Amino acid sequence: MLNPNLAESDQASIAQKAKQARASAQAPPAPAARQALLQQAAELLSREDAVLVAHYYVDSDLQELAEDTGGCVADSLEMARFGFTHSASTVVVAGVRFMGETAKILSPEKRVLLIEPQAECSLDLGCPADTFSTFCDQHPDRTVIVYANTSAEVKARADWVVTSSIARDLVADLSAKGEKMIWAPDRYLGDYVKRQTGADLLLWDGSCIVHEEFKGEVLSNLKKQHPRAKVLVHPESPASVIELADVVGSTTQLIVAAQQLDSSFFIVATEEGILHKMRQTAPDKTFLAAPTAGEGATCVSCARCPWMKMNDLQRLIATLQAGSSQVSIDEEIRIRAEVPIHRMVEYGRQRA
Ligand code: 13P
Ligand code: SF4
Repeated sequence: MLNPNLAESDQASIAQKAKQARASAQAPPAPAARQALLQQAAELLSREDAVLVAHYYVDSDLQELAEDTGGCVADSLEMARFGFTHSASTVVVAGVRFMGETAKILSPEKRVLLIEPQAECSLDLGCPADTFSTFCDQHPDRTVIVYANTSAEVKARADWVVTSSIARDLVADLSAKGEKMIWAPDRYLGDYVKRQTGADLLLWDGSCIVHEEFKGEVLSNLKKQHPRAKVLVHPESPASVIELADVVGSTTQLIVAAQQLDSSFFIVATEEGILHKMRQTAPDKTFLAAPTAGEGATCVSCARCPWMKMNDLQRLIATLQAGSSQVSIDEEIRIRAEVPIHRMVEYGRQRA
């Protein structure tokens, strides 16, 4: 679906960038080489006084390395918090660009490295700062809430930054105070929050190219084949998929639900990298990825984020050796973006 907030050329450029990212993914290392690479990466992290902060969607080797070396594997809210509070002088982000930018905004004194600086996010790309700022100027009576999956410039224009773990609660709280809001960029999450809270939300028309591909009708058929299965859905998915969910939540909330729910079979509608942590934390349970295309059709993403999949052990080693891919942010933008991010972290802390 086209985004009316964006020119068609911008839409085409998002699709083109995703295609390039898919093409640049490297084959996983052979088992014999893998152990040596893990060892080398761990030594480099220690030598550089660096901590590895990884998202659940990146490859399982990076997730394990992060945990084995005192870093973390987390959702985007916890990634922000962890990098900010950790004592290491270098934070290495295994994720996408906005995650590196958030880490740098919160910790300007630290060196923040992205394993892969070309790792984008379709939500971030679909919300250019200048167009978004004009949109906000047209609605001066509205509180501006932006999802963490945005650039530093967009965050600098916002009153609040949120992640999926706190979006619904925060909007409900602001709505109860009588506030009308702009929500950007994910229209599916925005629409879900609007339906849940009844808040007056004006939605930007962005989407995640991965979650957008989950198909309600095919999922419904799959559910019929597995009547006892519980369905876990990330709220960046279309409403027809969310409707079928037993639990809707952030990546961490879905992992916790998989452990706690009294079921041994789950269908999971979010990026497939999360299955590693689900299988690790609930080893006796069975997890099936939700369908991303019509029966028999060839899926485009197959629930794989092309940008998250650019992160791998070889690139981590190259980044640490070269000290390259440092995140830098204009100080004036950083100071403005820091305010709504701190609000998010504090709001999340109070609710934890
Ligand atoms: P979480 O905040 O739930 O980790 O989601 C981040 C993301 O990019 C989802 O696609
Ligand atoms: Fe962005 Fe979607 Fe990838 Fe998450 S899965 S980083 S929202 S493109």
